[in-house]
Amino acid sequence: MAKKTILDFQNMIRLGEKIVYLTAYDYLTAKMQEKAGVDMILVGDSLGMVALGYDTTFPVTMNDMIRHCQAVRRGAPATFVIGDMPYMSYQISDETAIENAGKLIKEAGADCVKLEGGGPRILDRIRAINEAGILVMGHIGLTPQFMGQIGGYKAQGKTAQAAMILIRQAKLLEEAGACSILVEGVPAAVGKAITERAGIPILGIGAGSFTHGQLLIYADMVGFYDNFTPKFVKKYAQVGDILTTAFREYAQEVREGTFPLNAEHTYKMPEEEIQELNKLLTDDNQS
Ligand code: KIV
Repeated sequence: MAKKTILDFQNMIRLGEKIVYLTAYDYLTAKMQEKAGVDMILVGDSLGMVALGYDTTFPVTMNDMIRHCQAVRRGAPATFVIGDMPYMSYQISDETAIENAGKLIKEAGADCVKLEGGGPRILDRIRAINEAGILVMGHIGLTPQFMGQIGGYKAQGKTAQAAMILIRQAKLLEEAGACSILVEGVPAAVGKAITERAGIPILGIGAGSFTHGQLLIYADMVGFYDNFTPKFVKKYAQVGDILTTAFREYAQEVREGTFPLNAEHTYKMPEEEIQELNKLLTDDNQS
């Protein structure tokens, strides 16, 4: 199947077709997601927690993002891939933002980049990246890179005033040239109001059912990442339990000597070669 482009996503929203969006950080997961028909893959800076074991996304570097985007691209060559811009890769200036966005496209093989925030500085970055010819997705609401200012991983837009700020930010991001916006951690009414007013695809994660598409962090929805599970996650599998059971059984069988079985799990050697080997070993011992 041909890779979907931003034009396909615009068409999907016109036709009322939902866009399916998941995160991935490695080759194998991306390969399975492409096989499953996922429309968009986000190589999120959530890889800091999910793949690298940090407590937050702050330590994630451009090199981390490039390496993981490359792996995802190899696993999903025919899927639209979004590379997340890590903390401090775009905040400082338009020039560094363009340079780093360009690396995600040129070196990492992403189709689009994503950055967080909806304030005036971020609008400038969106405008600059878009003018450099790079597709850029906005991200508003619960924005983990602003965790210090919003006081942790907390739902946003829960008062009418706060909701209006987000609804206006979405419009400004669209006007600045965002090709799409991810809305995270807001009440469904806010996701609905933003979507109804948008001319570009609005993707939601924890933003209710009215957005044009849905994103989940893949490791949450398959029960792989168990440090913390947000309220909006539905678990479609318990992969973590399956893997832990497999690792435990393997450990037990190695310890008790029931794995490997020489009849099943090793390479065969012709009988005459074994005899010859035994002879060589005997000669070797005698010399
Ligand atoms: O990094 C990521 O996976 C994200 C999601 C939390 C939306 O940006």
